[in-house]
Amino acid sequence: MTQNEISKAGFETRAIHAGYDPDPTTGAVIPPIYATSTYKQDGVGGLRGGYEYSRSANPTRTALEGALASVEEGERGFVFASGLAGEDTLVRSTCRPGDHVVLPDDAYGGTYRLFDKVEQAWGVEHTPAAVSDVDAVRAAIRPGRTKLVWLETPTNPLLNIGDIEALAAVAHDAGALLVVDNTFASPYLQQPLTLGADVVVHSTTKYVGGHSDVVGGALVVRDHELAEQVAFHQNAIGAVPGPFDCFLTHRGLKTLGVRMDRHCDNAERVVEFLTGHPAVTQVIYPGLPEHPGHVVASRQMKRYGGMVSFRVAGGVEQALAVCERASVFTLGESLGGVESLIEHPGRMTHASVAGTELEVPDDLVRLSVGIETADDLLADLDRALGPR
Ligand SMILES: Cc1ncc(COP(=O)(O)O)c(C=O)c1O
Repeated sequence: MTQNEISKAGFETRAIHAGYDPDPTTGAVIPPIYATSTYKQDGVGGLRGGYEYSRSANPTRTALEGALASVEEGERGFVFASGLAGEDTLVRSTCRPGDHVVLPDDAYGGTYRLFDKVEQAWGVEHTPAAVSDVDAVRAAIRPGRTKLVWLETPTNPLLNIGDIEALAAVAHDAGALLVVDNTFASPYLQQPLTLGADVVVHSTTKYVGGHSDVVGGALVVRDHELAEQVAFHQNAIGAVPGPFDCFLTHRGLKTLGVRMDRHCDNAERVVEFLTGHPAVTQVIYPGLPEHPGHVVASRQMKRYGGMVSFRVAGGVEQALAVCERASVFTLGESLGGVESLIEHPGRMTHASVAGTELEVPDDLVRLSVGIETADDLLADLDRALGPR
């Protein structure tokens, strides 16, 4: 298949074949790990395929960037040493001192910390607003100064849903770009650029990599001019991943579709189990009809994902005990790997927002439901929640 034919193929075909043709010299089916910092030039300025130095470009990275652009249906993809490195590069590419950004009022704690403690010191201000409330996001915009409307959907860890199409219209009316952090949904379940977003952000550490063995980030953009700006800053700032990290992330991407379907199957079983459990006061999952974002999620997502949050009767002590008693669910931060994880957002991933407007309830437990045997996951949760 040619890359042109691949670009029109289905999701799984693009995830496996986009961005790389078998190596013309050896026929290698998988992009080799190009462990090289520099490239021989055929005479001064005579580059082979545009490669001169691996901060600027490396073939293992190029293959991953092409595949990510294809699965997100964007103009161009860029990868970074971490999700936060990608976010910082985007802010520097699009904002200047005096500019302003609207953030989700329950953004990932590290994203909030980046804006609150780093970008603010360089003159970029932010206002939190609820992603589920289009009017609140519109009201948070500062006309002429807001350059980015930042959206996570579903959010981390409260799984709130923002309407990508409606928020793209709000951002564009104000002359701002809509940025969607698509980490929780993954490109298999949701493609924000097709709904009007301008930039997709990923922590590829999560579902895209999928095996908890590599940290990375990505930006995918829709517009050629913005792509040029990001490309310049990616090279000028230099927060790029090495070729081995790119290889691992790309290997993960190839199986994203089958993994996500199993994550969703298992999450649905977990939700059903938790919903009937007396020690659980609330189950938060966009697939539940009573979830306030259910209708929007059904419109813009293929399925509802592998993340489940729930609140525990008995408050913080009980929530911590559940986290500590679980054993198939490993106590740990991060998400999106094949193994199930459990965590207490208030004390772990979201400790950096304690005492701020973004603080999360202290009886909240977050699950990243993995792809183990579902019955083993339910038995583990039953044990962890204690006697009925
Ligand atoms: C939704 C979301 N966005 C961004 C990030 C930051 O990514 P990284 O940890 O790869 O820097 C995370 C990390 O947990 C996340 O959950």
